[in-house]
Amino acid sequence: MTTSIKRIGILTGGGDCPGLNAAIRAVVKAGIGNYHWEIYGIEMGFEGLMKKLVRPLGPDDVRGIINKGGTILGATRRHDPFHYQEKVGEEIKTVDRSQVVLQHASELGLDALVVLGGDGTLTIAQRLWEMGLPLVAIPKTIDNDLSGTDVSIGFRTAVMTAMEALDKLHSTAESHHRVMVVELMGNKAGWIALESGIAGGVDVILIPEIPFSVERACEKIAERKRLGRPFSMVVVSEGAKAAGQQEVYVDPQHYRLGGISQQVASEIEKRSGSETRVLVLGHLQRGGSPASFDRVLASRFGVHALELIAKGDFGKMVALRKAEVAALPIHQAVARLNTVDPGGDLVATAEALGISLGR
Ligand code: F6P
Repeated sequence: MTTSIKRIGILTGGGDCPGLNAAIRAVVKAGIGNYHWEIYGIEMGFEGLMKKLVRPLGPDDVRGIINKGGTILGATRRHDPFHYQEKVGEEIKTVDRSQVVLQHASELGLDALVVLGGDGTLTIAQRLWEMGLPLVAIPKTIDNDLSGTDVSIGFRTAVMTAMEALDKLHSTAESHHRVMVVELMGNKAGWIALESGIAGGVDVILIPEIPFSVERACEKIAERKRLGRPFSMVVVSEGAKAAGQQEVYVDPQHYRLGGISQQVASEIEKRSGSETRVLVLGHLQRGGSPASFDRVLASRFGVHALELIAKGDFGKMVALRKAEVAALPIHQAVARLNTVDPGGDLVATAEALGISLGR
């Protein structure tokens, strides 16, 4: 099926990550250059459609942005039109504004939409698609927890950033004979911790998928001491939890994780007698210039998303599978999270290298 597309919109929703600008650039360059479509940038995710915050994007708008982190369109987590927080009088009320999104998309003459998002944004996109909004999705999340794609935009750069931090911390841990505990992002999935931990040659990796025992982690630290290595590197995902316990929140009301590294460090210090220090790498992992992998992936995803639109193949998310670009229904990508398999090859590799997973 071919479509008579004239104008498309593009938005970035949820948390930002390196590579979003490369994808926007690809959509603008190929959309104008190959298809002669008009491209409208929608600001601040779906909120931009609720408030009609849109602007036409041309080649000048995307010049020199392939190497820039963040998103030129802005992004927010508070953009769910189905649960929109609106001030009604003195009160903040949660209202459903999904019809407004559809109405505004039609008033703006948008024939289709490219949505860049993670689990949350793509769940919203799926619902809007079911209501009749023609759209395609591009997966982005540093947590890499979307199903159906081997990797999402932003993940590889985040792993690189975390690995570089671990490399730097290694030497200071060694000089001072300390245990360094590093908290990394990953609320439900431990991909960043696991991959950067292996790449950074750490001693202990604690991830959400494997409830841990501090005793077991301390055994590894003690064994290193016996072998004449009085320092250790510990990596912990923000969503990791001790066996039988809950995740640690810095702001439970808004489900903001944080603080597990401090708890783990105090326990390690108490049990091992080693001096410990904590680093929470935080949003540094979401920033910076995208690695070449993410620039190329974002460009491929952008171009492939346009191919789907040109064919009228809506409701799909582009994906990478065994190094080939593919597509699958968005609902399949958000049906379940892509988490680390505790019995899988990556965990087995870590353990074969002598890394403790705290089990
Ligand atoms: O992008 C996902 C993520 O990196 C999570 O790992 C983390 O919990 C979250 O973003 C924090 O983002 P924010 O502070 O923007 O809500």
